[in-house]
Amino acid sequence: MTLVAERVIPRRGEFIHSLLSEDHQHLERFFQEIIAWAREGEHASLRGDWQRFERELTSHMDLEEQEILPAFACDHQAEAQAIRDEHVRIRAGLTELGIDLDLHCLRAERVEDFIGLLRAHARREEALLYPWASHRTAERQTGRGEWPICCLDCR
Ligand SMILES: [Fe+2]
Ligand SMILES: [Fe+2]
Repeated sequence: MTLVAERVIPRRGEFIHSLLSEDHQHLERFFQEIIAWAREGEHASLRGDWQRFERELTSHMDLEEQEILPAFACDHQAEAQAIRDEHVRIRAGLTELGIDLDLHCLRAERVEDFIGLLRAHARREEALLYPWASHRTAERQTGRGEWPICCLDCR
């Protein structure tokens, strides 16, 4: 008889937290790769890669804005607004960097500012928003929660 190692399946709430955190790490790695290719003069596939990065980062923010932030705002209004404001800055940064890449004139300080913004934003969400979302989705496992994520006042 072959023993199969028991798979550890994360609880739904932990899964949501780790999925979104892994997304942050993946997006930062992807961004660094694109910048490295641009600096090495590898412009051949740069436009396509940049569009893919832009699409992935935008979908990540869309998901947060549509599925998590509305309910989060009921419990933490100022923090939810701060996250939305950062999304606006990130979207503006994407547009500016896309133009720089098109013109082959990547500015070092713009790249540094953008990576700093992405990192600070990831830290912010992982400190409060994601733990909050995990807690709310974990409630669903006991039959008390709902999807999309909902705050107690929404019900
Ligand atoms: Fe975000
Ligand atoms: Fe995020």
